[in-house]
Amino acid sequence: MKKQLFALSLLVIVSAFLNKDESEVYFYIPQNWPKPVYDVVKNPVTKDKVALGRALFYDPILSKNNTISCASCHSQYTAFAHIDHKLSHGIEDRIGTRNAPGLFNLAWNKTFMWDGSVHHLDAQAIAPLSNPLEMDEKLEHVVAKLQSSKRYTALFQNAYGDSLITGERTLKAISQFMLTLISANAKYDKVMRKEPGIAFIESENNGYALFKRNCANCHKEPLFTTGEYENNGLQPDSILRDSGRMKITHDRRDSLRFKVPSLRNVEVTSPYMHDGRYPNLQMVLFHYTQNVYHSQTLSKPLEKKIVLSEKEKGDIISFLKTLTDETFLRNPKYGYPKATFSTK
Ligand code: HEC
Ligand code: HEC
Repeated sequence: MKKQLFALSLLVIVSAFLNKDESEVYFYIPQNWPKPVYDVVKNPVTKDKVALGRALFYDPILSKNNTISCASCHSQYTAFAHIDHKLSHGIEDRIGTRNAPGLFNLAWNKTFMWDGSVHHLDAQAIAPLSNPLEMDEKLEHVVAKLQSSKRYTALFQNAYGDSLITGERTLKAISQFMLTLISANAKYDKVMRKEPGIAFIESENNGYALFKRNCANCHKEPLFTTGEYENNGLQPDSILRDSGRMKITHDRRDSLRFKVPSLRNVEVTSPYMHDGRYPNLQMVLFHYTQNVYHSQTLSKPLEKKIVLSEKEKGDIISFLKTLTDETFLRNPKYGYPKATFSTK
């Protein structure tokens, strides 16, 4: 009898473990969020595809001389932005032309890149892969390298049910990993969900009210972006001469418009703006109150001067810090995939 009981409880424990694994959630829609733009029905998120995508994201095999991975410019502890540099650094330390943004909640992005040059997450990885200043590689070479790797043959087999390695499968798997990067557990979210024992302190509350009045037009909740292109009054840079959205549309009305970035995790993603010109949030607040450059395409909400006292600027910064999602920054599921990295 005792033996049977023991066997039974062992069975319960084992199946509990199995169930946990089965029901592990890789993609979900946080409470009160809009419908995602990415159609997960067409590329259903599965454990094995995510594992493959994660291995690829962290693997320098994606670059021409096997030195640069996606994670070289997108590191987890800065919400997958690239901090030390204003402009990103790629292969052989070649300097790019823009600041690497954080990567999270990408299923809700209508377009990608500061100028919206990429329309679909599955096509995104091609851009850094083939950019001579970033990874300088060709997808067909990457596929050939993957095909000659035992480890990847096995990972593709697990993910797709056969070991066929193609460019499309490679890109879709990288998307799968990126789809899992959901950041919706900051103090702000807990306050909005009315979790017991969590509330804004006075400066955060005050900052939230000021934020809604002055910033939320473009940095709209809950994603903290509208996903639209705006000109937020940055002085044009005479060296980079980046015209933003106009590069894509060739429409002068789009000159100096850039995609509104999400402000989630903004505390850890410095430097700021498409060219990384501002090293800290104080400078950003200085910009919006004292430094807005008036040009033909300046966005309407910024035409009228924003007036904020030093205390009020500090309060907005306190509020912005409630958007830092520690569970996202430290989630081991998003880190370097030690377990799957053995040898070639
Ligand atoms: C050399 C640095 C570098 C590498 C390597 C790199 N990126 Fe990026 N990433 C950037 C920069 C810079 C941008 C913004 C470019 C722009 O707007 O023109 C960017 C933008 C993105 C975006 C768009 C985010 C948004 O909100 O619009 C995604 C997604 C992304 N990268 C994923 C990847 C993936 C996947 C890889 C690996 C295949 C990768 N990156 C490799 C620097 C890099
Ligand atoms: C008219 C729309 C608009 C308004 C209003 C606005 N922003 Fe922005 N914000 C943008 C755009 C567009 C960018 C990116 C500009 C660029 O890099 O060229 C941006 C960038 C930022 C960044 C940098 C984020 C990053 O990851 O680099 C911060 C921080 C920021 N805004 C905070 C604020 C605050 C705080 C307010 C209110 C005081 C505000 N914004 C009001 C459109 C707006």
